[in-house]
Amino acid sequence: MFITVFGQKGGVAKTCSSVHIAACWSHQQKRVILVDADRNRSATAYGARGLLPCPIVPIEAAAKATRSAEIVITDGQASSNEEEMKNLVEGADFILLPTTTQSRSIELTVEMSQMLRQYKIPYAALLVKVDARKEAAAKLATELLQGFDIMVLAAKIPLLSAFEQAETEGVTVDQAVDKRGRANPRRMMGWTAYSAACNEIEGLFETHCKQNQNQSPIGWDFTPMEHRIAA
Ligand SMILES: Nc1ncnc2c1ncn2[C@@H]1O[C@H](COP(=O)(O)OP(=O)(O)OP(=O)(O)O)[C@@H](O)[C@H]1O
Ligand SMILES: [Mg+2]
Repeated sequence: MFITVFGQKGGVAKTCSSVHIAACWSHQQKRVILVDADRNRSATAYGARGLLPCPIVPIEAAAKATRSAEIVITDGQASSNEEEMKNLVEGADFILLPTTTQSRSIELTVEMSQMLRQYKIPYAALLVKVDARKEAAAKLATELLQGFDIMVLAAKIPLLSAFEQAETEGVTVDQAVDKRGRANPRRMMGWTAYSAACNEIEGLFETHCKQNQNQSPIGWDFTPMEHRIAA
């Protein structure tokens, strides 16, 4: 399964989302590769300490590196040109659009969804950097996006200093520590939110495959983890 994390706006947690969904599925024993399609190589920089649970490869090296992967997550870049966008979209089975509650981010996601409608590729917006003190903003953003027929994941990624701490250390948010090395007390909120987003994406993609009577991509096992363990 090929998932592209995409959006034209800078700083909306595309790289953070790519890293975390890749990490969540890696922790479920799936063979995941994170492909860095951003010329700034942000995902590569994030993983430079070698502390993330899956390999990260630049897009130019993706063909061979992704040969045996079950899930390939591509971290797109902001302000892609039309050709880059088209290629990234056509190469995906599912597109995730991280979106903040800011109006410009919502606008760009709406524009993107109008472009994506030409393709039969499922996509969904993921609300990120959601400030717990501003629940109304998240609700409004969801309603606005849904008003444009855009699927919005129920999982919302909270605004947490733990994400920045994790990036500084080159680890995922569940391992975030402050400058003194103390575990961030809210780190698991961030991790749980991305885990929930992964579960939803699996469900959406499964539904899409069934509706289109497609075979699910090779190696993509939709059996919930607990059932697989029980079996
Ligand atoms: N939920 C969050 N809460 C707080 N900070 C966050 C959150 N998600 C990401 N960040 C921080 O926001 C900044 C931008 O995130 P990120 O680099 O993932 O965005 P991006 O969309 O990939 O940016 P670019 O367009 O430059 O590629 C980073 O410093 C990151 O640590
Ligand atoms: Mg990025």
